[in-house]
Amino acid sequence: MRRKVTVVGAGNVGANTAQKIAQKELADVVLVDVVEGVPQGKGLDMLESAPVEGYDVRIAGSNGYEETADSDIVVITAGFPRKPGMSRDDLLLANYEVVKSATEQAVRKSPNAILILVTNPLDAMCWTALKVSGFPRERVIGMAGVLDTARFRTFIAEELDVSFENVTAMVLGGHGDTMVPLVRFTNISGIPLSELTDQATIDRMVQRTRDGGAEIVKYLKTGSAYYAPAASTVEMVESILKDKKKVLPCAVYLGGEYGIRELFVGVPVKLGSKGVEKIYEIKLDQQERAALQKSADAVRELVEVIKSRI
Ligand code: NAI
Ligand code: 2OP
Repeated sequence: MRRKVTVVGAGNVGANTAQKIAQKELADVVLVDVVEGVPQGKGLDMLESAPVEGYDVRIAGSNGYEETADSDIVVITAGFPRKPGMSRDDLLLANYEVVKSATEQAVRKSPNAILILVTNPLDAMCWTALKVSGFPRERVIGMAGVLDTARFRTFIAEELDVSFENVTAMVLGGHGDTMVPLVRFTNISGIPLSELTDQATIDRMVQRTRDGGAEIVKYLKTGSAYYAPAASTVEMVESILKDKKKVLPCAVYLGGEYGIRELFVGVPVKLGSKGVEKIYEIKLDQQERAALQKSADAVRELVEVIKSRI
């Protein structure tokens, strides 16, 4: 049976996500955007690379949701990206309206889909999508932890001059300045990071990870990162469509796990065909737990702003 993924927002993250899904032949793709011609043009352009790249998937672009019907997964990247000097949180109200409208329209056509949110501020946008869709929490998931972890892994691999593949790490918490890179759970082929470098180097890499999004914005000036965000989103899509049951840090709606309630916060989960199949509640030390709580408090502040608008 052919699988279908809708990607809402045919901008930088959306278009790259669509293209990677096609290149991996994970599913047919429908690209949706409000700008007339853009999803159609990008969709056709990607389709025309199929004979060269050798993938057999259908890719269509649309300004509406008719063609998205019965999608297995809907990825929402629609919205505004950061500009220099802006935090992810500055996007709250504008992107709230975009995500609300995209979610309403997408779930009407695909009531059984799994939603993957990418739009910032990520954790508050996941909350919006959960409330608007009425979906169970297993089917509303935010992409941030995979990206933040990928950045941490990159900096470690470069610093130690080892293969990127050999670095395993875990970044939890909200997708913001308060994110929580967990050094204790970071290793290089099983060797704890702390065995291979000193504390000052670790602290520097942790801070660079927290600032990872801003570092790219500073270079690009007119927008934010998209290659690594698209790759991270596709890792989640693949784990779900292939029922790989990968354990990845994702934003999920917590119901008391880690002492956090009714908020999306990044924690390790198992991603399979049912969406979030398990939330892992790992034992954190006092400092890690406090950092996660601080991060959750920052997410709560944003959710309080949009709560009255739902
Ligand atoms: P972009 O500006 O390149 O693309 C956004 C697209 O959304 C545009 O094509 C725009 O026309 C479209 N759009 C706006 N309103 C829409 C609506 N109502 N329905 C359908 N499409 C609509 O931005 P980019 O770089 O693709 O980023 C998208 C979002 O993803 C931003 O909010 C950004 O902050 C966020 N992001 C989140 C990351 C994460 O780790 N969670 C990583 C990277 C980006
Ligand atoms: C990032 O971390 C902007 O959230 C986006 O690159």
